[in-house]
Amino acid sequence: MRDAYSRHAVVPPAAPPRVLSLDATGGRVQPQTVRATAMVFEDPVSKVLEADLARIAPSDASVLVVGETGTGKELVARRIHQLSPRGRGPFVAVNCGALAESLADAELFGHEKGAFTGALRTQPGWFEAANGGTLLLDEVGDLPLSLQVKLLRVLQEREVVRVGARQAIPVDVRIVAATNVDLDGAGAAGRFREDLLFRLNVATVALPPLRARPGDIRPLAGHFLELYRRRLGRPELTFTPAALAALAAYGWPGNIRELENVVHNAVLLARGRRIEADELRLTRALRLPAEAPAGLEDTLRALFERALVDAEPELFDRVTRLLIRSAFDLSQGNQVRAAERLGLSRNAFRTQLAHLGVIPHRRRRGAGSEAGEGGDLPCPSPLRETPGPSLGSP
Ligand SMILES: Nc1ncnc2c1ncn2[C@@H]1O[C@H](COP(=O)(O)OP(=O)(O)OP(=O)(O)O)[C@@H](O)[C@H]1O
Ligand SMILES: [Mg+2]
Repeated sequence: MRDAYSRHAVVPPAAPPRVLSLDATGGRVQPQTVRATAMVFEDPVSKVLEADLARIAPSDASVLVVGETGTGKELVARRIHQLSPRGRGPFVAVNCGALAESLADAELFGHEKGAFTGALRTQPGWFEAANGGTLLLDEVGDLPLSLQVKLLRVLQEREVVRVGARQAIPVDVRIVAATNVDLDGAGAAGRFREDLLFRLNVATVALPPLRARPGDIRPLAGHFLELYRRRLGRPELTFTPAALAALAAYGWPGNIRELENVVHNAVLLARGRRIEADELRLTRALRLPAEAPAGLEDTLRALFERALVDAEPELFDRVTRLLIRSAFDLSQGNQVRAAERLGLSRNAFRTQLAHLGVIPHRRRRGAGSEAGEGGDLPCPSPLRETPGPSLGSP
């Protein structure tokens, strides 16, 4: 107990450092000053986000930052702090997922000497450490239910009671909470208190995944290249155009953090003065976005750019054939329905089928009858069996 506690708890110094963060690997605390971290907001979607942050920052309202892993939730929390009137006060980041349930309230709210075995001295908690500044409750969805009740009370009363104490201590702290889980869903499932959620999400900042702001990819790649070539002493390094195209074409399931890791790795391992496409460790599969209509162009563009970079042969031919084939198969060989699915007239669709060799080319009037005039092919789609000749060379 004592060991566990002494590993986790660190006394906030009398003059608290500007930044404390409690990390997931054993609760190590790293005092730092708030870095003037350069942030990239180039895509139009990100510019809206940037303007939202500037609007939200000046007030004391609690902010809930929601986003997939690696989208920049912590950086955004720091940005809100920096832009707020509390910017000169402390910024304290606590990873709620790393708090052991038995000690979490002592961590957050502090404890008195002798309050429990191993409490050798009185110790203020993270709320007090953040007094006059901002407290980031990271991974807030992991907070145990028992602590959610206490947190709600602190947010309502704006005071903490240290474990083992009777006296409440007023605290002036702005709360930014971050999560990559759907807290509404967790609320409905009884894992997260809805009254606490209402307190936390006075303002919500939803961070889009990197694939939804493709205009940020190249500027971010440049930003991280600059950072790591300086850090690793490789000032001459640049990307080849093919490498840049590969970065732009990738789906980034791990978002900005993954992009940073890829660039870091490439700078570390680059053989020559230029980072080639095959030196980028883009290993994870492209992930299709759930929201189809808005994401379709981006997804297809990413796939096409990737295929172009990889110099896939006969791309135009194969893509067209695949589109026609998919619509035709889905419609079980019904030309009218397949044409509708594609937004084509039936005649235009028949022309494509003829190009692909599925149906004979339309003969001149009077030269004979056409196969499949009634709309359905007379036999199962030959598209499934044998690819026809290339488009344009019937
Ligand atoms: N807009 C941005 N411009 C520049 N760098 C960014 C930007 N957003 C995030 N980063 C960088 O990307 C990395 C990941 O960001 P951050 O840790 O804030 O993400 P996160 O959403 O908290 O990730 P996780 O869910 O894994 O905790 C950090 O190194 C951060 O500095
Ligand atoms: Mg984070």
